[in-house]
Amino acid sequence: MKPEILFLKQEDVIKAGLLDMKMVLAETEKTFKMIGQNQIINPTKVFMGMPSNENWDSYCMSMPAYIGGDVDTAGFKWAAESKANAQLEGVPYGIDIVILSDPKTVFPKAILDGTITTAMRTSATAGVMAKYNALKGTKVACLVGAGVIGRTMIMAMMEAVPTLEEIHMVDLVKEKAEGLAKEFEGKIKVIPYTDVKEAVKDAQLLVTETTSRKPFIKKEWLKPNMTVIQMEGQSCEEDILLTADRVVLDNWSQMSHLVGILVHELYEAGKLKKEDIVELPEMVNGVQVRQNEDQFVYCGSAGVGSVDIAIAAKLYENAKKMGIGQKLNLWDNPLWV
Ligand SMILES: NC(=O)c1ccc[n+]([C@@H]2O[C@H](COP(=O)([O-])OP(=O)(O)OC[C@H]3O[C@@H](n4cnc5c(N)ncnc54)[C@H](O)[C@@H]3O)[C@@H](O)[C@H]2O)c1
Repeated sequence: MKPEILFLKQEDVIKAGLLDMKMVLAETEKTFKMIGQNQIINPTKVFMGMPSNENWDSYCMSMPAYIGGDVDTAGFKWAAESKANAQLEGVPYGIDIVILSDPKTVFPKAILDGTITTAMRTSATAGVMAKYNALKGTKVACLVGAGVIGRTMIMAMMEAVPTLEEIHMVDLVKEKAEGLAKEFEGKIKVIPYTDVKEAVKDAQLLVTETTSRKPFIKKEWLKPNMTVIQMEGQSCEEDILLTADRVVLDNWSQMSHLVGILVHELYEAGKLKKEDIVELPEMVNGVQVRQNEDQFVYCGSAGVGSVDIAIAAKLYENAKKMGIGQKLNLWDNPLWV
């Protein structure tokens, strides 16, 4: 038997429906529900920083998962980011691929570009956090970081927080925030900023997706009862998390062990324990995070590979029905069996 692999390049996964944020939000929430119901195996990701974990210029991360239930697929995301890419014109900061395998035969069945999937599912994870925790009637959101994930974050927040009227988009590079404001003209009002303190003043929701390696957002700039969603390791000063009334994280064991991120630093310093937080799979299965409109809620995420695998499985099924992609064989005849 020849394992047939469907190769889906970025243009193919887009044709197969990847830019449908409603679909991605639904798949993301369903995946977190399944994690909470023990239908998914999601081992802790392995991080390999280069030249070292502590002081990386680039990294690759391996993220395997098995999704049970009606999805029934094994898969693996090879996620990578490079600081040098952030300075290069026309190259994304993060570049990812996904491999899907049949869980019974273990035959590889698809290789997909995972770059846009990462951006869509990262923002959808923030979207699920916002759907459950944003204050009722939230009208203004401040988004910090107008890069690849900044764009999908606007898409996710528009879907997840239907009362939203205005987005204050902040970036160190003014033109990037202005570019997104122009891109979303006619869909939602996006106002560009370079100063977070000014941009967050009237916001009920703050979402961060920058490439900063140092905290720069101060607690005193924020309202006492807002929702903060931090999607990277370093942007919020530690008291934003430590003084929050409620904290939800996508995956405690992963975040508490991932070097270079705030949650890991607080865990190592003995300032944050598992008992202090709710995990996202618990939240979507009924544990209430925000209990009233006076609370300050902090949400954090480092990303969970099973969400990439679940979305890739959906795109693979769509692509097969649509007859798109390139078929490859792993061998004609296996040499040694
Ligand atoms: N939680 C997750 O699952 C997950 C998944 C993928 C990526 N990420 C993280 O999301 C972040 C953004 O990734 P991206 O692909 O959009 O990168 P990107 O390079 O496309 O965009 C990052 C933007 O942040 C801006 N920025 C950097 N420092 C800033 C600061 N101090 N103030 C305001 N703006 C600042 C940059 O100018 C840039 O426009 C990265 O840190 C990445 O690690 C998280």
